[in-house]
Amino acid sequence: MTITETEGSAGVQRILSGAKPTADSLHLGNYIGAVRNWAEMQSRYDAVIFIPDLHAVTVDFDPTTLAHRTRTVAAQYIAAGIDPEKCTFFVQSHVPEHAELAWALNCITGFGEASRMTQFKDKSAKQGSDSTTLGLFAYPTLMAADILLYQADLVPVGEDQRQHLELTRNLAQRFNTRFGETFTVPEPAILRETAKIYDLQNPTAKMSKTGESPNGAIQLLDDPKITAKRIKSAVTDDGTEIRFDAENKPGVSNLLTIYSVISGKTVAELEAEYAGRMYGHLKVDLANLLVDFVTPLRERTNELLADPAELDRLLARGADKARSIAGTTLDTVYDRMGFLPRRQA
Ligand code: TYM
Repeated sequence: MTITETEGSAGVQRILSGAKPTADSLHLGNYIGAVRNWAEMQSRYDAVIFIPDLHAVTVDFDPTTLAHRTRTVAAQYIAAGIDPEKCTFFVQSHVPEHAELAWALNCITGFGEASRMTQFKDKSAKQGSDSTTLGLFAYPTLMAADILLYQADLVPVGEDQRQHLELTRNLAQRFNTRFGETFTVPEPAILRETAKIYDLQNPTAKMSKTGESPNGAIQLLDDPKITAKRIKSAVTDDGTEIRFDAENKPGVSNLLTIYSVISGKTVAELEAEYAGRMYGHLKVDLANLLVDFVTPLRERTNELLADPAELDRLLARGADKARSIAGTTLDTVYDRMGFLPRRQA
């Protein structure tokens, strides 16, 4: 599996990505579709990896758990291989330029264009218009600001973010055309095979933090016994053959994708290995494999969470680094847009 890489300009290209702290743990879809790729790319790219906590407050949230969830995501990134020494690693709300650039982008985004974002349409339809905030509506322009502030070349994400990336590209091009060349136009880096991990109970819907059934997701911080149970009770398909066929066998195909990523074997190797065997065999083996995978990840995350001051120190250092990049971009944006420069008092 290779990630679509754009032709490099001079120097190392920059990647940027993040996962929202909207649950008590990241799930296996976040890991397979995103975090694992960042860890793999960080040594070849200049990586900016952050925790989009401003995005977390666009839906209902609890102020008493937000900080803990933010630290938990930070710890999970590190446990999954993100090295704060190699990348720019920080929390979005510590860098006010994100909200400032988002405002400027709001003012060049059409109402109709923002209304067409499918994630907004889905979430607002579920919540009803009275509980849908302006923040949720403007979520994609905040995401565009996250990316454009750092002049990212590549944005490694899962398939569900493709439309937001498309909007980001449009806004970058629009700004550049209207105000002069300012932003790098970023490319999505989406691994086709693992771009969408599906819900274990409803294998045609994506695995998500807010899935209909809690048994449909593998939370990386769950007790490994729960992990094993969820795999063993995953919905499979008619027939008995263990074969990858996303259309007719979505349940088994999803398990094969997960198995392939975690074991490092190809799907074809797994199909050969399980020829003539039952779904139950595949599930038991995958459950054991995943327990061995999540156990050290969970232990490392809990170890890191036991020292919140050290996590906060790493994040504060990352925010200083991020601000030096973001501040430069925002100065250029304000200058190009014609704002009165602020003089020293
Ligand atoms: P979030 O927090 O929903 O998800 C984090 C990452 O995990 C990927 N992902 C999946 N990949 C495969 N299968 C799944 N079932 C699955 N579920 C989630 C997502 O595609 C994502 O890459 N808007 C973003 C956060 C964000 C961001 C950014 C990302 C804010 N600003 C700037 C990149 C760049 C989001 O909600 O991700």
